[in-house]
Amino acid sequence: MKKIDIIHGPNLNLLGSRETEIYGTESLESINSYVNSAAEEYGIAFDFFQSNHEGQIIDRIHSAENNVDGVVINPAAFTHYSIAIRDAIAAIKTPVVEVHLTDISQREAFRKISVSADVCVDQICGFGKNSYFFGVEALVGHWAVNRIRTENSSTPDNDKLLRSVVEILHESFPKYDWTGIYLVDGDALVLHNFQGAPSPHTRIPIGQGICGAAVAEEESIIVPDVNADPRYLACSIETKSEIVVPIYSGKNIIGEIDIDSHRPDVFHKHDQKFLEQVAAVIGEKWK
Ligand code: DQA
Repeated sequence: MKKIDIIHGPNLNLLGSRETEIYGTESLESINSYVNSAAEEYGIAFDFFQSNHEGQIIDRIHSAENNVDGVVINPAAFTHYSIAIRDAIAAIKTPVVEVHLTDISQREAFRKISVSADVCVDQICGFGKNSYFFGVEALVGHWAVNRIRTENSSTPDNDKLLRSVVEILHESFPKYDWTGIYLVDGDALVLHNFQGAPSPHTRIPIGQGICGAAVAEEESIIVPDVNADPRYLACSIETKSEIVVPIYSGKNIIGEIDIDSHRPDVFHKHDQKFLEQVAAVIGEKWK
């Protein structure tokens, strides 16, 4: 079972009574139990830690190296000036995701700066308690990218590589109900392999559907509600949300990763970020 340490920085012990107009009325304990239940299906063991002391947070980061598989940290005010916490994160090999309840990019000038974000796997802010849950998902994505790299380190052929990517992603995320890869073939996208219910769309003209649009527009697309998007080509009435990420070999799009979920609005920037890393790994290994 994977283990994650959730570290809360100074003043977060006062959540629930502290500046409630900014941070809400939920206590830290209640946020911790939310993370436990929201992430339950990932089968991860969580440990929670809060301290108002920089040194204690640093010690806890150090101990993560040998004790856990990942860290989600809200360094709170230390975010904006603690080079010591930044150095502690940079010193360990364990992946760390920085999170904030509020969107620090929209607050006072002194809060817009994080001295630690660039040594973290990702920074997620502005989603309240969900920032912590999305932080957990960012770690799951990071582990999936690493697994894809290690399991395909001995230069596999394209077919094996694409099958392994679909299998690892589908296995890593219970919210992925349909995971597939399409490859560009002339002016169409052809389904290479998938996990989930069979799709009627095995060949999609570029420009049609959300899949076709991602290739035509050369960008990842997140659709929180497929029924509200006129581009959506219905595959299953159960599908509620979708993410499509183009795969490049050099400057050319060679295909795309397409994922559907039966749950609405489950794809966010952190999913896009690690799926783009997965696409980059395919691009690097493409023969
Ligand atoms: C915070 C943002 C910080 O600027 C602030 O000092 C905090 C909480 C957040 O979660 O939004 O204490 O990290």
